[in-house]
Amino acid sequence: GVEDAEYVVSLIRTIPDFPKPGIHFRDFTPAMTDARGLQLMLKALERTLPVPADQIDLIAGLEARGFLLGPALAAHLGKGFVPVRKAGKLPPETIKESYELEYGTASIEIETAAVHNGQRVLIVDDLIATGGTAAAAAKLIESAGGKVAGFSFVMELQGLDGRAALGDHPVASLTVMP
Ligand code: PRP
Ligand code: HPA
Repeated sequence: GVEDAEYVVSLIRTIPDFPKPGIHFRDFTPAMTDARGLQLMLKALERTLPVPADQIDLIAGLEARGFLLGPALAAHLGKGFVPVRKAGKLPPETIKESYELEYGTASIEIETAAVHNGQRVLIVDDLIATGGTAAAAAKLIESAGGKVAGFSFVMELQGLDGRAALGDHPVASLTVMP
């Protein structure tokens, strides 16, 4: 239960001044390396899903760390997985969406045929900061003909109001970090 999520959160590592001075980098990979951590993380994500599992048809994972988590969660829930990649990596036909970074913009893509009309898609990533990446992914899902079922994150960074970027879609996270 709650203790299990606490165990997962206790494995998250904070690296000061990475990748730049002033950034406290939250690294969830130790929770994947730990066998019990990985299993409990999947169970905690399942328990806190923003919508019931039977209202989800497909899991979308965001490059790069949503690629570590998404397929594991998809297999755990018995769903398929679709990758949302940094632009220029997926074969055609793709749809592209740009979003704001601290400095400049970035673009992500989805394969158009990967999502069928009306499929309900849960978007998964390790972390939401400003919400820019997740919001761009939601636009891609909708442009591909899917419906956004909601978002699941392991971590939510406090004070950036990332949820505000995600409109009315339901959002779940295992922990809020300062
Ligand atoms: C990180 C994180 C999320 C995104 C969150 O990925 O894994 O995908 O940033 O930030 P946001 O809410 O402000 O958009 P990053 O962009 O570092 O890409 P990477 O995993 O490929 O290194
Ligand atoms: N960890 C991982 N990804 C991130 C972070 C972080 O602390 N901040 C912005 N993206």
